[in-house]
Amino acid sequence: MSLSLDKAVKKITPGQFAHLEITPSQRTYSDVLLRRPFSIFNATQKFACYNNIDIVYQIKGKGTYLIASFPKGRTVNIICPLGQGFKINRTVQTSVLVGGGIGSAGLYFLLKRLLSLKRPIYFFIGAKTKNDLWMLPFLGKLPVNVIATTEDGSYGKNGLVADFVEEFISQRQNNNLQIYACGPSGMIEAIRKLVLLYNIPMQVSLEERMGCGIGLCRVCVCRTRPAQAGQDDWQYSTVCKDGPVFDAQNIC
Ligand SMILES: Cc1cc2nc3c(=O)[nH]c(=O)nc-3n(C[C@H](O)[C@H](O)[C@H](O)COP(=O)(O)OP(=O)(O)OC[C@H]3O[C@@H](n4cnc5c(N)ncnc54)[C@H](O)[C@@H]3O)c2cc1C
Ligand code: FES
Repeated sequence: MSLSLDKAVKKITPGQFAHLEITPSQRTYSDVLLRRPFSIFNATQKFACYNNIDIVYQIKGKGTYLIASFPKGRTVNIICPLGQGFKINRTVQTSVLVGGGIGSAGLYFLLKRLLSLKRPIYFFIGAKTKNDLWMLPFLGKLPVNVIATTEDGSYGKNGLVADFVEEFISQRQNNNLQIYACGPSGMIEAIRKLVLLYNIPMQVSLEERMGCGIGLCRVCVCRTRPAQAGQDDWQYSTVCKDGPVFDAQNIC
């Protein structure tokens, strides 16, 4: 879905999200009273400000079902950009992006920024089946090494994306890498374990159900531990305001 913003935005960091209102005035669908969060898939500028954003969504429940029925030209109320996005690591030689399912949506805008560094980029895209590899056409002509994996073997490598990322990392231990990941919690957890094993910098975008989206209601908290802190020295951080992107080493 392409959204033209009535107030242009000066800065959008890849990994930030938009919080979209679904039922503006009527209260027919009380279970969609809350806004729904979506990664900013892409953003375009005019006169050095962003005046258009794209989001890509998968129909999951009533909210996304209703979004799919929005007619072209409908006005929607969104708050964006929200949260902390990816910090581009300019010190490393190679960037590795890992996206799972619809989670890959959070990586395309980042990829476009990384391309300007003119360094090697590997993009691992994991999906259940070939039909879920919706991102591939967007990558077609870009100078990026794409490794597609499917759990049923219907396209690309057969298996879980985390296993192929590990294979890649284990073969390049001397290369300085930065991993950026976005996807379902199972995939994130599997990749996060690699960080501990191989001590590679990694930023992950977490998904939690959200209420306010601005750090007030605290329904979206996750446990984090600041670098160098002791084992018991953890705290709750909000995925919406402190995240959704975190250093993987800090999540506990
Ligand atoms: C920071 C962030 C970025 C996101 N970006 C995208 C995106 O780019 N594209 C996209 O399609 N979806 C994205 N999501 C997930 C999206 O917000 C949910 O799929 C959506 O809110 C579901 O609303 P619904 O009313 O259709 O489903 P509901 O009826 O609310 O829920 C249906 C099912 O989806 C699950 N679900 C609902 N919300 C979430 C959530 N936040 N995280 C994980 N599972 C959820 C529920 O557990 C339930 O099983 C993102 C979520 C977050 C937190
Ligand atoms: S959604 Fe309210 S604090 Fe995160």
